Amino acid sequence: MRWLLRRSSRKAVAGFGSRGSFSLFEVGFSEVRRSVATSCRAVLLPRFGGPEVLELRDNVSVPDLKPNEVLVRARAVSINPLDCRMRQGYGRSLFKPLLPLILGRDISGEVASVGSSVHSLGVGQEVFGALHPTAVRGTYVDYAILAEDELVSKPESISHVEASAIPFAALTAWRALRSTANIKPGQRVLVLGGGGAVGFSAIQLAVAVGCHVSTTCGGESVGRMLAAGAEQAVDYTTEDCEVSIKGYFDAVLDTIGVPETERIGVNLLKRGGHYMTLQGEAASLTDKYGMVVGLPMSTAILLQKQMQYRYSHGIEYNWTYMRADGEGLEEIRRLIEAGKLKVPVEKTFPITQVREAHEAKDERLIFGKVVLELD
Ligand SMILES: NC(=O)c1ccc[n+]([C@@H]2O[C@H](COP(=O)([O-])OP(=O)(O)OC[C@H]3O[C@@H](n4cnc5c(N)ncnc54)[C@H](OP(=O)(O)O)[C@@H]3O)[C@@H](O)[C@H]2O)c1
Repeated sequence: MRWLLRRSSRKAVAGFGSRGSFSLFEVGFSEVRRSVATSCRAVLLPRFGGPEVLELRDNVSVPDLKPNEVLVRARAVSINPLDCRMRQGYGRSLFKPLLPLILGRDISGEVASVGSSVHSLGVGQEVFGALHPTAVRGTYVDYAILAEDELVSKPESISHVEASAIPFAALTAWRALRSTANIKPGQRVLVLGGGGAVGFSAIQLAVAVGCHVSTTCGGESVGRMLAAGAEQAVDYTTEDCEVSIKGYFDAVLDTIGVPETERIGVNLLKRGGHYMTLQGEAASLTDKYGMVVGLPMSTAILLQKQMQYRYSHGIEYNWTYMRADGEGLEEIRRLIEAGKLKVPVEKTFPITQVREAHEAKDERLIFGKVVLELD
């Protein structure tokens, strides 16, 4: 056995000062290597606001692992709309007392250390996965901590950048289509807003199950939707969706979730079908009225809508939220390996340019997926 204590070199990083030093203990057995970082770089959110509030800091401490947790050396973390919304104050009723937060849900990297009860993953293994939406210590860090069931081994066929773009979006789609609607081969699925990461994942998941898929998207996305197996892709910028979308559906996933798409979605469902929107109101109502009033209010609104649509249309109405799901993540990995699931990455930024990356997303300068790379 040999012990090594290494200290990283200090290196200038444009815009954010110097890179943090961290202790790296490597315990070398003949085939086992354990690395434990005690501090690392992290992008902190000290207060809510624009991209300028993000601070890349050195020497942010890495907490000890709980038995079921895994320390991941991050190589790539993707930006989800939730990151930008959290930065602006979405979920403030929950997150404000917990500031400073670390943003980021998705990650791809290598296992640096594992908790005592982790058996499915080992040190050095390449993994990818996503944190739960309410996690306070996110993935915009050199060393992220995720639960064992939030990670699986990364398919060798894709890079860390490509892998980091997938889990949060695909698990959201999985939750809606598999856990809620329980889609089956031969059923008809409509994805309203198929151009984004969740919508595009949903199309591919439904096609892989053997469903007939229709979608709406911007004109530039039509070809990509059809190539992924959608039988109909309606350009909502030039066509009347209500007229153009043919037939009735067993499940509708609405990634846009405005009153117009809700109306179209519920009207195109068969009796007993599932309408699922990604724009549930629980967080926004809680932010507006506080936990004590907002939470029961959102539950009441959801129940009222569920009853209303059951009575008027005979359908099931749901707010869909991403949730960690080890089984879902494993299936997502299998689909990636089979070449049946991918999320295109439009641009990468080094983590040192996290502000510029958020600015580009805020100003809609980049429509597709943006990934932050960590060296
Ligand atoms: N409830 C939850 O747990 C949950 C989880 C994840 C996301 N969400 C929410 O769901 C919504 C969608 O999330 P997302 O991650 O799918 O967002 P996204 O990837 O940023 O996509 C958003 C939109 O951007 C457009 N777009 C994406 N790629 C494009 C490209 N290459 N070219 C042109 N346009 C492109 C698409 O519009 P077109 O249709 O015009 O192509 C798409 O609808 C967001 O509001 C997000 O906050 C909710």
